[in-house]
Amino acid sequence: MRERATASIVENLEIASGVYRLTLADSRGSDMVSGIVAEAAPGQFVNVYLNSASMLLPRPFGISDVVASERGPRLVLVYAVVGAGTAELSTYAPGAAIRILGPQGNGYELAPLGKNVLLIGGGLGIPPLLFATRRIRERLTPGDDTRLTALLGYRDAPYYSGGMGLYCDEVFSISETASGIGEYKKEHEHKKNRPFCVVNGTVMDLAARLVSDGRLDLTDASILSCGPMPMLCAVAEWAKSKGIPAQVSLEARMGCGYGACVGCTIEVKPAEPIASAANTKGTVLFVSPSDESLTEHPSIAQRKVCKDGPVFPAEAIVW
Ligand SMILES: Cc1cc2nc3c(=O)[nH]c(=O)nc-3n(C[C@H](O)[C@H](O)[C@H](O)COP(=O)(O)OP(=O)(O)OC[C@H]3O[C@@H](n4cnc5c(N)ncnc54)[C@H](O)[C@@H]3O)c2cc1C
Ligand code: FES
Repeated sequence: MRERATASIVENLEIASGVYRLTLADSRGSDMVSGIVAEAAPGQFVNVYLNSASMLLPRPFGISDVVASERGPRLVLVYAVVGAGTAELSTYAPGAAIRILGPQGNGYELAPLGKNVLLIGGGLGIPPLLFATRRIRERLTPGDDTRLTALLGYRDAPYYSGGMGLYCDEVFSISETASGIGEYKKEHEHKKNRPFCVVNGTVMDLAARLVSDGRLDLTDASILSCGPMPMLCAVAEWAKSKGIPAQVSLEARMGCGYGACVGCTIEVKPAEPIASAANTKGTVLFVSPSDESLTEHPSIAQRKVCKDGPVFPAEAIVW
């Protein structure tokens, strides 16, 4: 396994209230960012180590994008300030060095996904979906009629919905607060060609509204989702009720962040391969355990989110 190594901060910019975009480049003598940019798959994450000696555990962040820019490879993470670690991270200035380790975990299975791919994201789960969406778009061949539709839920003002618009055929956003909706309208005034729907509520309210309005084609559909656990649980239920295979990127409280401490275990359904996304098309997405010490009971099994995930077939999870 790769050892943690330093990276250099290119930008650490507040892009929405309490939400920062962190752009990293290789620092002198380290090719960690180059390695991540070359290897990373959408859905994987990076462990970020803080400089303060009192905070030894890494903070995991989903990879929002990897860029091969003229000035060298760039790794983009988007994070919200929620506690002491992210508060400290937000104070780091461009030019500072930071230690990171990645890419970690297993990402989304991107093929085959079917004709209608729904990217369902909530809050900080949206930036990592941008990376997935870009990869899917890049892999489409001319004449491919796959449609990419994003359903994005925000607590307040939207961010990254414009970015998703670069790769999706349609982007629908929803905010839980009226102020967020106002911002959304401003942001999208110029994008007359991108239909959108503004409703006060959650991303599942948005999905229900789009279905009832006949604006969401669920034929041969699949779902990639990332966001808070209650949202993922709702997505899993909705997907099951519609018979749509879904892959979800889970968040679990982590310790080591690379498989050594069993701090991030979740319960999954054991034994037989689980029918999922692409199982209907011949690929089995069941997750084998990364570690034989994990419980493998006839009715319940354990998996490590940091090593076996963070992306799992929705129907594999004991919610
Ligand atoms: C696979 C994965 C991907 C993630 N991607 C993102 C992302 O792209 N953007 C983003 O803003 N946040 C993301 N998170 C959540 C992010 O890791 C936490 O918000 C962050 O670790 C909080 O650190 P803190 O010191 O500010 O909070 P504190 O609550 O002070 O943290 C205390 C300890 O608990 C751990 N911890 C706290 N909350 C979480 C959490 N939700 N998940 C895992 N560990 C946690 C911290 O790493 C730290 O070790 C992700 C979490 C996981 C598991
Ligand atoms: S965080 Fe230590 S095993 Fe997953």
